[in-house]
Amino acid sequence: SAPKPLAGRRAVVTAGPTREPIDPVRYLSNHSSGRQGYAVAQALADLGADVELVSGPTAIPLPHGTRNSPVETAEEMFSAVKRALPADIFVSVAAVADWRPATRTERKTKKPVDGPAPLQLVENPDILRSVCLSDKRPELVVGFAAETHDVLELARAKRVRKGCDWIVANDVSGDVMGGQENMMIIVTETDEIHLPRQSKTAAARALARRIASHFGGPS
Ligand code: C5P
Repeated sequence: SAPKPLAGRRAVVTAGPTREPIDPVRYLSNHSSGRQGYAVAQALADLGADVELVSGPTAIPLPHGTRNSPVETAEEMFSAVKRALPADIFVSVAAVADWRPATRTERKTKKPVDGPAPLQLVENPDILRSVCLSDKRPELVVGFAAETHDVLELARAKRVRKGCDWIVANDVSGDVMGGQENMMIIVTETDEIHLPRQSKTAAARALARRIASHFGGPS
């Protein structure tokens, strides 16, 4: 059977968008499909890790061989991640909404006859940053940086600002977000590993192999 270099390691992966309700019929969200995060969860499980996948709403099937915690909002995702710790590995692939409506109305919001739009936003928790600062910080924390411009520069800065070990930079100016392929650059403290444009599954396997070699397995 295939080698299991991550056997005995526990991994938590976030994936998909979050959905921030405005009222019973409306929400704020983004175009994340969950494909890249699901592929990472699957690839880590294939290498033997015990994987908990904390996922926002997606239209794709949940992977096999992982424990799945479906959530909707960023706050729910944050709670589920905290419950899932401790772990050896945290990979934060989710496209968490930066903001949520300050209030969620019980009834459908009506357009005011006059005056400003009735939507006020408050900041969501930064799950990745909080995990990095947590006393249960996993040994290896990997964030993602989806950018449309200055991808590498922003990713380097983000790695330091978030306090994570690696940042996976990807250019979402084209059809990456919601698409089938990805081109990733793994930014560590000392290296920048450029992966070719490939399927999200193949990219996830390459990332999982790097993670396995960090834990001493074959790369
Ligand atoms: O700051 P930005 O959203 O670009 O950072 C992206 C990284 O941070 C991703 O790994 C994402 O999963 C994570 N993140 C998070 N919680 C947020 C915002 C981003 O975990 N509220």
